[in-house]
Amino acid sequence: AAVGKGNFRHFMEKELHEHPAVLGDTLRRMISPSSRAVALPPLPFDLAGVPRVTISACGSAFYAGMVARTWFEQVARIPADGDVASEFRYRTPPLPEGGLALLVSQSGETADTLAALRYMREQRQHVLSVLNVPESSMARESDVVLETVAGPEIGVASTKAFTAQLAVMACLALAAGRARGSISAAQEAAMTASLLEVPSRAAEVLEHDEHIQRIAARIAEARDVLYLGRGSCFPIAMEGALKLKEISYIHAEGYAAGEMKHGPIALIDRNVPVIAIVPSGPLFEKTASNLQEAAARGGQVIVFSDAAGAAKLKGIAVETVVLPRVDPFVAPILYAIPVQLLAYHVAVLKGTDVDQPRNLAKSVTVE
Ligand code: G6P
Repeated sequence: AAVGKGNFRHFMEKELHEHPAVLGDTLRRMISPSSRAVALPPLPFDLAGVPRVTISACGSAFYAGMVARTWFEQVARIPADGDVASEFRYRTPPLPEGGLALLVSQSGETADTLAALRYMREQRQHVLSVLNVPESSMARESDVVLETVAGPEIGVASTKAFTAQLAVMACLALAAGRARGSISAAQEAAMTASLLEVPSRAAEVLEHDEHIQRIAARIAEARDVLYLGRGSCFPIAMEGALKLKEISYIHAEGYAAGEMKHGPIALIDRNVPVIAIVPSGPLFEKTASNLQEAAARGGQVIVFSDAAGAAKLKGIAVETVVLPRVDPFVAPILYAIPVQLLAYHVAVLKGTDVDQPRNLAKSVTVE
């Protein structure tokens, strides 16, 4: 049956509002409610013996993969790295036999990602794909598919599929951590509990819609926008910048907050909004000092944080969106939502074709 927009103006808006349901559906399939342990479908290899995780994808799916990289390193203590699929195979990277190839794709049809998958297979990796379309080319060529249960995504700019990819890979990283003994059963239970809270926290985030709309009015005037984040929220900064470019046609860059002083700081003046993805956690203070540097140069700092973080940044932020406090482990999932919402509202104000932005395709099946 054809999917409709319901009462929403655009598919993207409808899909943004599906975050809580999609995250709930995706997580419930992977976490046992009684034991609070991750329960993956049977894997044809042992996560405990994987020497390395190699991640490849395109666009938003790649940024989801880069968040997952931090989880594999920190939670599962497995060497993990990756590259955009259009570069990956041309580097001809040597990969350790029996490593895990992790491909991420909403459609399962992206030509470059499929080619990366084939390269990884030649390199004798176990091929695991995180896909939203289970009957796809990538599904057919994978050893195992972990499904995102996002439902059809019509808007060209990915929203709910992105957060669902994060949810699936968070579970995979926990399963790997457990298999390798880098986290205990109690730690796993605490982390799955944080994950299971995300759907209701996501619903709270959507209640900030009007505030984010007001911030969008500021952004719509800008020519350039800088997004900053650190650690697992650095890819969320890149995703925020990508979304803004894609649908509002405003130039934006996502940068690692600490790298700002090596370049983008030269661009900052009162006309450049600086959007900070800065949840409380071990990296907060470092990012806060980078934001201080931006504010000192006239940068209009717009903060996405929780109440504790917002209080500390009060003196330098021109706008603050106060999000629910969550475990830093799940923060990138939650913080992706307001960032997508902001891009959406800027695009609406600019009057662009939100669901079908110029020159872009939902799925790119040519190299
Ligand atoms: C296109 C879409 C993006 C998407 C990317 C990868 O560029 O516009 O939203 O992230 O392809 O697509 P995939 O289907 O592989 O996730």
